[in-house]
Amino acid sequence: MKNIAVAGTGYVGLSTGTCFADMGNRVTLLDISEEKIAMLERGESPIYEPGLNEMIRRNVKAGRLHFTTDYAEALADAEFVFICVGTPSGVDGEADLQYVRMAAQSIADHMHKPLIVVNKSTVPVGTGDWVADIISGRLEEPMEFNVVSCPEFTREGSAIYDFMNPDRVVLGSRNHVAAEKVAQLHLPLRARIVMTDLRTAEMIKYASNAFLATKISFINEIAAICEKLGADVEEVAVGMGMDKRIGPMFLNAGLGYGGSCFPKDVKALEHMAIEQGDHPALLSAVIDVNQHARRWAIDNLTELLDGDLAGKRIGVMGLAFKPNTDDIRESPALEIAQLLQKVGALVSGYDPVAMANVARTNPDLRLVEDPYELAENVDALLVCTEWNEFKQLDLPRLKACMAQPIIADGRNIYQPGLMQELGFVYRAVGRGETFAVEPGFAFA
Ligand code: UDX
Repeated sequence: MKNIAVAGTGYVGLSTGTCFADMGNRVTLLDISEEKIAMLERGESPIYEPGLNEMIRRNVKAGRLHFTTDYAEALADAEFVFICVGTPSGVDGEADLQYVRMAAQSIADHMHKPLIVVNKSTVPVGTGDWVADIISGRLEEPMEFNVVSCPEFTREGSAIYDFMNPDRVVLGSRNHVAAEKVAQLHLPLRARIVMTDLRTAEMIKYASNAFLATKISFINEIAAICEKLGADVEEVAVGMGMDKRIGPMFLNAGLGYGGSCFPKDVKALEHMAIEQGDHPALLSAVIDVNQHARRWAIDNLTELLDGDLAGKRIGVMGLAFKPNTDDIRESPALEIAQLLQKVGALVSGYDPVAMANVARTNPDLRLVEDPYELAENVDALLVCTEWNEFKQLDLPRLKACMAQPIIADGRNIYQPGLMQELGFVYRAVGRGETFAVEPGFAFA
């Protein structure tokens, strides 16, 4: 059992801390927000993440998980402190490090014995060294500490599974002994561990996210070409993905990537490159294609609704940036809803779990209680998030609710042939005129 403090109770901090507690460690979760800590103390999770609530309760009950707003309390017995605070995008796309700086300063002010500072927040290359400088510059008397970079690769919606079953754990440090100790913490996961230096570990995180974002923009560009040439991007992705060098994942065409990581990380990497005098043409194109992917919804709805969206009633299905999360940061659905509202469309929205968050950030978006209510009298429905709930709908009932049976499917969740049979006017991303092919034909 190790004593671990975790600074930041967002998605990363909460899932990291709770999973370490579940692995038998004593963990103190720390946040400067009194509100979040009060919620956690009441047994409520400030975020929706499948399985997390139950795991928090189990570990609180077992006496392994504690909460505080006080660094002195969190660091009292800690051997490790994980920095898991937010690094939002700054004005020029650079990562805003104010919360990392505050965490580093507070650690320096309250540590009273040797400590391993593990950075999990996604930070520009060189930040580990900067954190070390902040701490050593602020310590009142010299004290041993080491900084280890341990980037997180977990996805929201499956954070617990991803944490417990990592493809790899990346550790970067100047001090091999400190990195070894952090490796020990991860031993129960039986994962492959990559040991490297601080800056390389930081770059592995950016390069991984940028590569995944590139895959998404790549397939979205192919989808646009498929539409023009009459090919079906869904089957193209299957055919490509069978090549082991390519792999089947992250080839789902749609409205582009959103969320708290890809948009900001690709921009931050682009910014780092430009700052060094480079010309990161590929990263810039990835961002550009992703922005353009949102246009698919506007262009197709405009075309389907007689060239004019003003006064048209449109129901947006799914508001979270992806399924199984209530996170709406950089959500394509909300960007598109705003674009639609701008041109005078009357937009309503529904999401299985993200509506409370949307009500706070988009008070002028009309929200309804279920998909059938959303369909009531609309001129078109737009699928923005591929929640399983939407895949199981009673489609004839849905159609009967609508003023016009038009569906623009931005996440390709329905079978074009079936939708045609049911009498919908149906548009999907990158699915050219191949509807005559039996569903599943390519897999036979
Ligand atoms: C991502 C990384 O996967 C994770 O390793 C990192 O630590 C944090 O960022 P997350 O943002 O939770 O995780 O979601 P992810 O499942 O990766 O999806 C990101 C975005 O890409 C979503 O908007 C999703 O809809 C989109 N996406 C994903 C696609 O459009 N097509 C795909 O094929 C896959």
